[in-house]
Parts: sequence; structure tokens; C-alpha cells
Amino acid sequence: MSYARIIGSGSCLPPRAVSNDELAADLAKRDVETSDEWIVERTGIRQRHIAEAGTTSSKLATEAARIALEDAGLAPQEVDLIIVATSTPDYIFPSTACLVQANLGIKGCPAFDVQAVCSGFVYALTTANAFIRSGQARNALVIGAEVFSTILDWNDRRTCVLFGDGAGAVVLKASEQPGIIGAQLNADGSHMGILYAAGNVASGQVVGDPFLRMDGQAVFKLAVNSLSQSAHQVCEQAGISLDEIDWMVPHQANVRILNFLSRKLGIAPEKVIITLDKHANTSAASVPLALDAARRDGRIKEGDLVLMQGVGGGFTWGSVLARM
Ligand SMILES: CC(C)(COP(=O)(O)OP(=O)(O)OC[C@H]1O[C@@H](n2cnc3c(N)ncnc32)[C@H](O)[C@@H]1OP(=O)(O)O)[C@@H](O)C(=O)NCCC(=O)NCCS
Repeated sequence: MSYARIIGSGSCLPPRAVSNDELAADLAKRDVETSDEWIVERTGIRQRHIAEAGTTSSKLATEAARIALEDAGLAPQEVDLIIVATSTPDYIFPSTACLVQANLGIKGCPAFDVQAVCSGFVYALTTANAFIRSGQARNALVIGAEVFSTILDWNDRRTCVLFGDGAGAVVLKASEQPGIIGAQLNADGSHMGILYAAGNVASGQVVGDPFLRMDGQAVFKLAVNSLSQSAHQVCEQAGISLDEIDWMVPHQANVRILNFLSRKLGIAPEKVIITLDKHANTSAASVPLALDAARRDGRIKEGDLVLMQGVGGGFTWGSVLARM
């Protein structure tokens, strides 16, 4: 049975980077008070990229995918599976994956979205891995793409300072050489009330509250515990020990969560890839953006063992363990 190997990656961030100071000045115009000091101290975030009006998840996803394909040395026509993880799709339907497929000029292969909020990329990667392991695909594009700025309530300082926009993509290829060696996903819908955007369109109108709402402290606690449990489970499944891990690429929500997590797992902080200072929380895009950054700057190399982890609304969480 073939393994699924990551053979390429790519990123796309909207050009406009907004520093905490700029954001604080903008929010002050709405009488919303925040500061660089508060944001850095509580989260580690220093800036985020914000998309221009009209920039969609499919646009960012397509660009990230093109770069990942180039990196992998693969022509779009060789792709036989496209999965996009997003909670901010362009439309209710068609899926963002179908839009990306059309943008890339690919026809015929399965293309669909996965909705698991900030765990979306890990869910999508696990799904693509299952397609490849079972022989149903050989070359898969797996993308996390978000324009979270469109679902933020800019009058709510507890949430609007935390998120950013962007897309990250990887190309997975069937290979006799490992590869993804462990994957495990979880959800507990009973926690839906701590992180949600509960609006919808019905009878031609927006019904409910379309903006992201969050109980930050409840999410914080659940994130640390669920990610540490998941890390143990995926390592056990793969028969490796935590100290064999070369790099951790966790969902980029809050540097304090990552510090707690690495301490709890006994993984040295230098092994944790952190991009949230520059990107903030880009939901499903955060893990592939961080992975791509660390591949491109030479930290993550061929042969390294990488633990990727997602956690977010649903409540959802999970891990993928990959030999690069
Ligand atoms: C959101 C989070 C940063 C808040 O940090 P915290 O230390 O829990 O802060 P609290 O919510 O207790 O708020 C402390 C104070 O800061 C204030 N505050 C909240 N947001 C603020 C902001 N942007 N600027 C300034 N002050 C702010 C609060 O109003 C509160 O003031 P009060 O004590 O006068 O009521 C933190 O809980 C967190 O990161 N949680 C996890 C969130 C997450 O990762 N979500 C995504 C998961 S996918």
C-alpha cells in the first residue's frame, strides 16, 4: 500500500499587512479600545494580512496551489484529487475546491470542501491520505484557505484582533517511501457554543448572527488538553515516541497555547514552528502556511518527522504525523 508524501507546498497572503498599532488606530475610530501591548502579551500576534474587498478564498487558494504545484514539479493535469479546507467559502455552492479546479484548468477529478474550521487542514490532509492509501488518488492538492476578516465583528475586540486572511497548499504524492505515518481526528459537537458563526441565509435573508463568536478562555483550556491528548494518540498509533519529532506545526491561534502545549508534551520550544506573530490566526490556512514557511526557510528538511495539529470550532481537533 502506498504512503502519501508531501512533495510541494505554497502560500498566498493578501498584500496588505496590518500591524497591531494600525489596527488599534482603525478600531479607535469605532470607539473600540485595544493596543499592541495587549495583543502581543495575550496572544503573540504582531500583525495580520487582511484581504481587499472582493478577494475570495478561491483566489488565495488558487495562487497557493499554483506555487505548491510548481514546488512539487507537477502539472495541474496530473492532479487527481482537490480538497479545500475552509469556513469562508466563496459561495454556499459550488464548493471552493470546484472553483480552484476550474481556475487551474483541471477537469474531471474529485474536488470538494472540508469544513472543520481551524482543524480543517488536518481533516483535509487525513482525507487525502486515505484516498492515496486506498489507491483512489495518486496526486492530491490539499489547501487551507480563509478570508476570516469577512466574518469578524470589528466592534468586538475579544475576537477581531485575533484573525487574518491567507491560504496554504500542499501536494501529496503516492510513494513507497513514507509519508504520512499517522493521522487521527476528533470532534465533540457538545462544545459548539464556545466558538461559532451561527448565521445562515434563509428565505433570501441573513438569519441569526453571521459573525464569529468565542468564549476565549474555554477554547484555550480545551485546545491545550485536546491537542496534547491527540499528540500522544497519533504517536502511539505510529509507534514512535514524542522525542523523535523534529518539528511541531500546530494551528497558530495563540503563542500561550503553544507554549503550554510544548511544555506539556516535553517538546522543546525551538522545535515549534510559529508564524502567528506575522499571520495571526488564519484558521484552516494556518498549518499549511506555517509548514510552507518552515520548508522554504530550510528548517524543515527531507526526512524530518513533522507533527501537524489543528484545533477549532465544532469543537474539532486532530493530528497528522508526516515524514517529509
Ligand atoms: C482571547 C484571549 C486572547 C483572551 O485572553 P484572556 O487572557 O483570556 O483575556 P480575557 O478574555 O480574560 O480578558 C481580559 C481583559 O482584557 C479585555 N480585552 C479583551 N480583548 C481585548 C483587546 N483586544 N484589547 C484590549 N483589551 C481586551 C477584556 O475585556 C478583559 O477586560 P476586563 O477584565 O476589564 O473585563 C485568550 O482567551 C485566547 O487566546 N483564547 C483562545 C482563543 C483561540 O485560540 N481561539 C481560536 C481557536 S481556533
